[in-house]
Amino acid sequence: MNAIVSVTRDWGIGRNGGLVVRNRADMRFFRETTMGGTVVCGRTTFESFPGGALKGRRNVVLSRNPTFMAQGAEVVASVDDALRTIYENEAFEEPTEASVGTCFRCAGQSTPELEAPTEASVGTSTHDVWIIGGESVYRALLDKCARAFVTYHDTSVPVDAYFPNLDIDDAWELEDVLGSGTTEQGIAYEFRVYRNLRLLGEVLSAARLGKPFGDGTSAARTDVVETGTATGESGDA
Ligand SMILES: NC(=O)c1ccc[n+]([C@@H]2O[C@H](COP(=O)([O-])OP(=O)(O)OC[C@H]3O[C@@H](n4cnc5c(N)ncnc54)[C@H](OP(=O)(O)O)[C@@H]3O)[C@@H](O)[C@H]2O)c1
Repeated sequence: MNAIVSVTRDWGIGRNGGLVVRNRADMRFFRETTMGGTVVCGRTTFESFPGGALKGRRNVVLSRNPTFMAQGAEVVASVDDALRTIYENEAFEEPTEASVGTCFRCAGQSTPELEAPTEASVGTSTHDVWIIGGESVYRALLDKCARAFVTYHDTSVPVDAYFPNLDIDDAWELEDVLGSGTTEQGIAYEFRVYRNLRLLGEVLSAARLGKPFGDGTSAARTDVVETGTATGESGDA
């Protein structure tokens, strides 16, 4: 699984339940990258989507409220529940030394998700699971993400929600910058890809020793083989 997020200079991600930077290119990037896959978010973020559940994707929403219902989404009560729901009935292929760490976006290839997903294909691949926020859900699941697709905006605005600063975390390194631009408001941004060295290292060690990664359950085996991109939710997300 991967995280996808849009941040400000100090890694701020939101205020009063909403986003703080408007970036149409980033919204398009988010949509294209997550299309056809599974998106995982907290109840607050889900409720901020103006159009409800994100179309063309399997929506998994975390809430501790047993009466919370979300049309078009599966509601789960904990992180463990989320992992079980995401990976249930999935045939998981053990990552190999050769496959670990490949990122098709970084290699300049187009994303398979860009093809219109069919009803049958939506949310069926463990390699297309996207953690899309907010702060509490990023913090709970970031360690299990192979990559973080961060749209980094060179601006500082008041926020009350943050993403962990990956530039000062030894477990993460900047792997690639896929592109850059300027928003309509004149804010410079970059599409950055960070990779989780700790997770990749664990998978490589397990592969070298011929052991299954994690505790052997499908939920514990975070997929490290995939790819992807950055965030922003809106009516056209
Ligand atoms: N910039 C970006 O890319 C981006 C992306 C997404 C969100 N955001 C921003 O992030 C902010 C929201 O972040 P947030 O942390 O306040 O809210 P959140 O993570 O979206 O949702 C929090 C809620 O999710 C549920 N939840 C969280 N962890 C859980 C767990 N382990 N088990 C069960 N339920 C759990 C709880 O719902 P209940 O209260 O129902 O129990 C909790 O109140 C907003 O400002 C939003 O705009 C920014």
